Amino acid sequence: GRVICCSCEWRQSCERDNHESRQRGRCSGGHKRAAEAVTQVCRAGNIVLFLLAVDSGAQVVFCDKDEAGGRAVEQELLGTVFIPGDVTQEGDLQTLISETVSRFGHLDCVVNNAGYHPPAQLPEETSAQGFRQLLEENLLGAYTLIKLALPHLRKSKGNIINISSLVGAIGQSQALTYVATKGAVTAMTKALALDESRYGVRVNCISPGNIWTPLWQELAAATSDPRATILEGTLAQPLGRMGQPAEVGAAAVFLASEATFCTGLELFMTGGAELGYGRKASSSTLVEVPILPP
Ligand SMILES: NC(=O)c1ccc[n+]([C@@H]2O[C@H](COP(=O)([O-])OP(=O)(O)OC[C@H]3O[C@@H](n4cnc5c(N)ncnc54)[C@H](O)[C@@H]3O)[C@@H](O)[C@H]2O)c1
Repeated sequence: GRVICCSCEWRQSCERDNHESRQRGRCSGGHKRAAEAVTQVCRAGNIVLFLLAVDSGAQVVFCDKDEAGGRAVEQELLGTVFIPGDVTQEGDLQTLISETVSRFGHLDCVVNNAGYHPPAQLPEETSAQGFRQLLEENLLGAYTLIKLALPHLRKSKGNIINISSLVGAIGQSQALTYVATKGAVTAMTKALALDESRYGVRVNCISPGNIWTPLWQELAAATSDPRATILEGTLAQPLGRMGQPAEVGAAAVFLASEATFCTGLELFMTGGAELGYGRKASSSTLVEVPILPP
């Protein structure tokens, strides 16, 4: 697999190796115990994030509410520690942080990735209760983990990576509550970047477009014509394909290590989906077409 060399927080113990490692295209053993990241990710599609993180030399501690899936990843990937947990439960996040710090002594990076996108919903089909639950999962889980991690990140001059979404910036049809939670994740990233800069803590977010993950697969399978849904999701990108979790993982490793002058950044990983004009009026929209003057 591709190997990303470490720098930044991870540089402290391996700066001298870095140049040589890059030339060789792989990390040297010197990187091995250089960093610990807490991350809330899992599921098959996200395993590659770990691969990249592990290849980069980081020790990765992660939580997921899917206990069987988390255990399987932990067994498969050396350098990962799985701690079962639900990001909506503050006690679970406290355990995640305290276990990480007691095992490794410090914490360099937090990745907030856990999140959910409900199936397509018209505004009138949403409810305040459903919205509150989604806020807990997509926004407050990240907020809580960040608050618990900050004392440690300030000590290590570490960094935070929030996984937001392109649609938080450009909107998405029939996804009012999801879009609102992700817009808030991006806004929180920028506000926090300002406040934490005095401690040398960088705070960035990645806003993916269409990434082919188990969640995308589930949402497509629940539509009336999954093949058409998948084709539409594919053609949304000028690059003509969906992104791979590994590509998001590579961006996360970059932000965590090399991007030492980036804070408050929203990194679009979208295959260009937001570029250019497209056909955006729906079939039921009253359309007014101007006519050429004679
Ligand atoms: N897939 C995409 O196209 C896409 C696009 C933009 C943003 N995102 C964001 O990327 C992130 C990952 O999405 P994905 O597509 O890989 O989803 P996924 O459902 O395939 O994976 C998410 C993982 O998070 C875990 N999880 C969910 N809720 C949890 C909770 N409360 N506590 C602990 N673990 C929990 C799930 O068990 C799962 O392992 C999400 O924040 C999502 O909003 C995805």
